[in-house]
Amino acid sequence: MDYFKVQKTVALNGTINVSGAKNASLPLLFSSLLAEGKHSFSNIPNLEDVHLSFKLLRYLGCEIEINTKPVFDQKAESLNSVTITVPKILKNIAPYELVRKMRASILCLGPLLTRCYQAKVSLPGGCAIGLRPVDYHIEGLRLLGADLRLLEGYIDAKSKGPLVGANMDLQFPSVGATENIIMAAVLAEGSTCINNASVEPEVLDLITYLKKMGADISVSTFIDEKKIKKNKITINGVEKLKAASHKVIPDRIEAGTFLIAGAMTGGDLYLHNVQACHLGGVLEKLKQLGCTVEVDNTKGKDSIYLHANKPVVAMDIKTEVYPGFPTDLQAQWMAMMTQAKGKSLVEESIFENRFMHIPELNRLGASIKVNKSTAIISGPCLLKGASVMATDLRAGSSLVLAGLVASGETQVHRIYHLDRGYEFLDHKLSSLGALIKRCS
Ligand code: UD1
Repeated sequence: MDYFKVQKTVALNGTINVSGAKNASLPLLFSSLLAEGKHSFSNIPNLEDVHLSFKLLRYLGCEIEINTKPVFDQKAESLNSVTITVPKILKNIAPYELVRKMRASILCLGPLLTRCYQAKVSLPGGCAIGLRPVDYHIEGLRLLGADLRLLEGYIDAKSKGPLVGANMDLQFPSVGATENIIMAAVLAEGSTCINNASVEPEVLDLITYLKKMGADISVSTFIDEKKIKKNKITINGVEKLKAASHKVIPDRIEAGTFLIAGAMTGGDLYLHNVQACHLGGVLEKLKQLGCTVEVDNTKGKDSIYLHANKPVVAMDIKTEVYPGFPTDLQAQWMAMMTQAKGKSLVEESIFENRFMHIPELNRLGASIKVNKSTAIISGPCLLKGASVMATDLRAGSSLVLAGLVASGETQVHRIYHLDRGYEFLDHKLSSLGALIKRCS
């Protein structure tokens, strides 16, 4: 199995192109199931999760043509374009062997059910960061008139004919449930209202593509009975959709990871192919830490410049739904806080078990304690290289970042988690001056 050898790095300096967003690409790829024909996507990152999605789509009957640049090319903005040809008749079973490794596979349920009136999808796997149930997905599809049962590890879904639009309230603005329900509702009869829906940038990117395919979707806000502002997505079902083409949005989590790496090593970074508004809260926090952060939009596209010339200060964060601080940057932020003077708190409010990186960071010499859903970091800590294990994707990246400031050599094992979500991570970091090497 591969692992990363990471050595203490003075300061990251240089320019990188941010890849297309993994969390936008996966739902987009599965949305192609909604219409027969040739769908084209560009800026799709070359990642393990993307290849797992291709495998599943091929199994369901799609033909996939990938134009990929498998070699790291610093200047290439859009690494991969993909054409998916979707047949008229799809296979409607997503088997355990193809679904177990990736939670996003559950996103084929809505499209298959609404197109085939029947779908059998294995309960998903993915990163072990909490219970991660799919009850909101199931409940939403039931409200659209489907009959769903759990049988031998599979969700067995059936409807007598087209799904029927409904009004529903999500208990929590779940990203995955919102995406699955929207994809099921676009071909339903009548209109569907998802109250308290997720409107993370990746959900909005999916909506943009569905609209290009001919879907009728609108996003609005409302004030609930407790006077809290919430988002509502209204979908007016259409009879048929057509294949279209789309460029995936940049990966805000990859961008955030590099910005944090720059801030904690005292670096000087330019990020191209980003959408700064997707990182709003994070950029503000980095400024409060003492970094210079500038957004340049002169060429009609955003670039972010980060300059960190003083040690980071201790700062608390709480993960929240967008536009709050993303749960996918919590572990990386915590790695950075080990270098800040004083106490900082990191509260995880999205997942109940997303602190698996803490014992590993402590193995490197960090001083982090946990009280329920809050981590208390006392810094600055002199980290010292050791062998550590990535337990999930973002936990893995926090260990790589910690390795950049730890003395000696850090070996990060189980980097297959990182390959699921970061395109050319080692190459990109090396191009900025990081001492990182993939070993077998
Ligand atoms: C979540 C993140 C997303 C991130 C992704 C991968 C949020 C709101 N979502 O999306 O930004 O990219 O993880 O790290 O930050 N839940 C249920 N029942 C369900 C669905 C969800 O109880 O049917 C719970 C989850 O256990 C979790 C919370 O709702 O505690 C958020 O889940 P959800 O947004 O659906 O997760 P992902 O779609 O994986």
